[in-house]
Amino acid sequence: MNLTLRIWRQRTPEAPGAMTTYEVTGISEDMSFLEMLDHLNEELILSGDEPVAFDHDCREGICGACGMVINGRAHGPERTTTCQLHMRHFRDGDTIDVEPWRAAAFPVVKDLVVDRSAFDRVIGSGGYVSVPTGSAPEAHATPVPKAVADLAFEHAECIGCGACVAACPNGSAMLFTSAKVVHLNVLPQGAPERGSRVLDMVAAMDDEGFGGCTNTGECATACPKGIPLQSIAHMNREYLRAVVKGGRGR
Ligand code: FES
Repeated sequence: MNLTLRIWRQRTPEAPGAMTTYEVTGISEDMSFLEMLDHLNEELILSGDEPVAFDHDCREGICGACGMVINGRAHGPERTTTCQLHMRHFRDGDTIDVEPWRAAAFPVVKDLVVDRSAFDRVIGSGGYVSVPTGSAPEAHATPVPKAVADLAFEHAECIGCGACVAACPNGSAMLFTSAKVVHLNVLPQGAPERGSRVLDMVAAMDDEGFGGCTNTGECATACPKGIPLQSIAHMNREYLRAVVKGGRGR
């Protein structure tokens, strides 16, 4: 299939960016979207042009490194990661707009690459447990009810790709932060920091310049891992509970 790509090109964080048009030919419908960009980059390199910069690592939908806005939607027309999006979702002759995540807290580094270290700082403020490290504990040493384990696992699926922020008109990171808070707060291993975790992570989220939640729900719609919108309500309950209890401990 032959496609017209309009891609955001920006040489440096300070440089003005612009959409640049490329014609690509010979694209297989079995290619992933990133393989299609690899194909474009090979042609750009052969012709002496600068290849398009974009983030990727596992290309298996696991690491959360990839991410771009495709035709106005975070990760494109399918509810999956960009690396797992395949070209069969497009038609021969299509024009495809490709842009980086758009959010004040995710400044553009180059082309389609944005700085998502704000997420790392939110995680660092409370996304951990203070249990002793060492060899793996015996599986039954700390009983966890099945429903609680399932809830924690559902939220642990968040890969921190940032699609929730890119999709939100407010640039809010509430879905991401709530996934991390709920994942750890419902488990007995996460209980010692239950109060401080939610207070500190929400404060870090605000400090990084992410917007507030106004319940548009775009975040949950774009999330490739299906983190539910109810996570935000769960985090808000945890926050209220922590405030009432004075903010620290269980
Ligand atoms: S490259 Fe790892 S999730 Fe896409």
